[in-house]
Amino acid sequence: LMSISDLSPAEFTRLVLNASSHKKAVKDAFAAGQVPPKPLHGAMTGKTVAMMFSKRSTRTRVSTEAAVQLMGGHPMFLGKDDIQLGVNESLYDTSVVISSMTSCMVARVGPHSDVTGLAASSTVPVINALSSDFHPLQTIADFQTIHESLSSVPSPDGSSLGLEGLKIAWVGDSNNVLFDLAIASIKMGVDIAVASPTSYGIPDSMRKTILAAAEGVAKPGKLTETTVPEEAIKDADILVTDTWVSMGQEEEAKKRLKAFAGYQITNELAKRGGAKPNWKFMHCLPRHPEEVDDEVFYDKERSLVFPEAENRLWAAVSALEAFVVNKGKIL
Ligand code: CP
Ligand code: NVA
Repeated sequence: LMSISDLSPAEFTRLVLNASSHKKAVKDAFAAGQVPPKPLHGAMTGKTVAMMFSKRSTRTRVSTEAAVQLMGGHPMFLGKDDIQLGVNESLYDTSVVISSMTSCMVARVGPHSDVTGLAASSTVPVINALSSDFHPLQTIADFQTIHESLSSVPSPDGSSLGLEGLKIAWVGDSNNVLFDLAIASIKMGVDIAVASPTSYGIPDSMRKTILAAAEGVAKPGKLTETTVPEEAIKDADILVTDTWVSMGQEEEAKKRLKAFAGYQITNELAKRGGAKPNWKFMHCLPRHPEEVDDEVFYDKERSLVFPEAENRLWAAVSALEAFVVNKGKIL
């Protein structure tokens, strides 16, 4: 799983619905003092998942470790100073060796080509845990969160997330988190409007990849782009942002903070832009106050950030079940 673009709309929908139903089943079982119910209990017994992280992580690390453990497997965390990769050993050699001893690699890398390179020489499934271009596990959790909070389908009918016609406004940097979110939005019939400062918009090659998500979709969501936050926010159901300075861009921090002035999400901005009255707020975290103020971020009604973070666990369970336990069959 390199990106949401690897998935058909039906497969993406199934991953999200599975995440949501596993969440309920496991929480009910834990509340009753029981072990996780079938089919999760023991589904990964004897399996090791190598977690190769070249960057920091709270949510992705904890959710992946907890998900593997929940299914009875062993998560093996390999930070950048733990293995030979990139210092003494090539991507190819590392991938061949690690995949000969484990059942899955979950990799957080710099350039996207590093995770596709690992996958190309691996004999086991590889899951992208964040690259320069995509963050598919985050997007599964995001759509689970939107589905659980805003779905028009009262009880999921098993084939739809019930999100068609919603509008997401992304205000901030055009980055890895946005790209997979936009691909999923188009596949799910959700409109997505992106407001980024000049020079921080979607790169041309990435726009092509995002728009290709509409192929074969009866009613794809629409992508619009602007440099004016108020334009993107108009009639939006959900306002989303992410850090203005992603990991690896620390040296550009000063320049970026200047370029993004005026893009902070606040109640005033939402009102000025004409967001829907009950608009919700989302952020993948970690969060800095410059991109969203405390009033919005900690608003118990509007802000979905903590359920969104929790859903990372259920997204990880769903993805590992599909790619490792069911060997790529998304059932
Ligand atoms: N959202 C997310 O991926 O967070 P971490 O960087 O803490 O894993
Ligand atoms: N865009 C951020 C996301 C972190 C989860 C980064 O790449 O650092």
